[in-house]
Amino acid sequence: MFGEGLTKIHDESRQGEVLPAIVAPIDFDKKFYIESYGCQMNFADSEVVASILNSNGFGGTALPSDADVILINTCSIREKAEQTIRKRLTEFRSLKKQNPGLLIGVLGCMAERLKSKFLEEEKLVDIVVGPDAYKSLPGLLQQAEAGQKGVNVLLSRDETYSDISPVRLNSNGVTAFVSIMRGCNNMCSFCVVPFTRGRERSREPQSILIECRDLFENGFREVTLLGQNVDSYYWHSGQQNGLSVNDSGVLADNNPVTFADLLRSVAEISPLLRVRFSTSHPKDITDEVLHTIAAYDNICKYIHLPVQSGSTRILQLMNRTYTREWYIAKIDRIRELIPGCGLSTDIITGFCTETDEDHQDTMSLMEYCNYDLAYMFFYSERPGTLAARRYIDDVPEHIKKIRLQEVVALHRLQSLNNMQKEVGKVMKVLIEGDSKKSSTDWAGRSDNNKVVVFPKENFCLQKGGYANVLITSCTAGTLIGKEINL
Ligand code: SAH
Ligand code: SF4
Ligand code: F3S
Repeated sequence: MFGEGLTKIHDESRQGEVLPAIVAPIDFDKKFYIESYGCQMNFADSEVVASILNSNGFGGTALPSDADVILINTCSIREKAEQTIRKRLTEFRSLKKQNPGLLIGVLGCMAERLKSKFLEEEKLVDIVVGPDAYKSLPGLLQQAEAGQKGVNVLLSRDETYSDISPVRLNSNGVTAFVSIMRGCNNMCSFCVVPFTRGRERSREPQSILIECRDLFENGFREVTLLGQNVDSYYWHSGQQNGLSVNDSGVLADNNPVTFADLLRSVAEISPLLRVRFSTSHPKDITDEVLHTIAAYDNICKYIHLPVQSGSTRILQLMNRTYTREWYIAKIDRIRELIPGCGLSTDIITGFCTETDEDHQDTMSLMEYCNYDLAYMFFYSERPGTLAARRYIDDVPEHIKKIRLQEVVALHRLQSLNNMQKEVGKVMKVLIEGDSKKSSTDWAGRSDNNKVVVFPKENFCLQKGGYANVLITSCTAGTLIGKEINL
């Protein structure tokens, strides 16, 4: 089911992603409204939640004031994310006053982090449900209707929701996210995710392929395979109903399935289906994955490779398990095997004990890597993490912010420069819809993930189609061009 959009999305961890939407089946007597914060995985989870609720008699609504149930899928990655969510919850207070039967549920990472404390702290909340417990939502809602508040924050070692077909929210009908694994075993010292999402587990490959094939058959032309650390995707036949992939990309018994195998199998669904993935941990991305990306035209030449810091000493304190030199060698390898590959990163400024010299190491690493896109943050201590327990958050906030500004300024220069280098090239663009500014222009993305806008001169083109576009000019965030016949 795919339909018009009705949910609000707030992306705290990755700005600038595609805005989502929900399908509202018409004949449900109860309605839910869902608002999502955080990373793409959280957005993908909201699509699972929508599916579970649809199967249990709830339809979606775009208006909180129309809803019987308001759900807020939360993020804990930085303190600011949690503050935004608390503020939003207070806004729902007045709705609850007008409609005392209204149920309010908190889902996601903040639910997991705060557990039943949430019910004590936020009296208006009726249910608190962690990322691995969404199947218990209908039962908890029923209990809450009967006046009993409920919490389920049990983390699981095997839940991947592989049996649930997500309902696409705020979809453009062309691009979709597909969750391939959950949790994270990495324990980066600054990060709350291992605590809120639990142990890493991979989703059964057959169900991933079925979901991607269904999307393709429904007109979608791009899937982004999602996980906190996709390169450690691993499935073996010892796991339930295990199937694996043989050399020709076909699923077969007994061989384990790695991320490279999975990429290959998804790419083979159709040359018209673009494949993207996120996120790669520098320590885990293999040459086999890089060769696979290079070998398939429809696997996009774009890698998000978060570095976090350019200082080996800080990287060690962050428990990232690589050095500056090792990371740089990985970037060199990517450029060698995949010429022209788009590269993006995440950077944290002002981590515990960071000196000016460490900060300069980050700046010089950025100079070297010349990222196309970067998500930059100042360090925010998260309760319970290794860093919070072991180190003092000793870089003053104003210094963290000055360093952040410097990193942002350098990135702006580099990314504009990279955009300008694209002028004069011809790019294959997947059309995602009208441009935001004008319905007489198409907007889409290039293989290396740049937004491209061009006039709708050719009436044969449509949303979900590919166009060859000659880039004629650019702004900081958009390439502007003209469709050409090759
Ligand atoms: N699994 C992904 C990260 C998800 S969180 C990965 O390894 O890349 C997204 C980004 O948020 C991280 O890469 C990091 O740059 C940032 N982040 C995480 N915890 C943070 C914290 N405590 N303070 C500031 N930024 C943080
Ligand atoms: Fe957090 Fe590190 Fe896992 Fe990413 S890899 S989710 S930063 S612990
Ligand atoms: Fe936030 Fe949880 Fe994602 S903490 S970034 S929503 S995994």
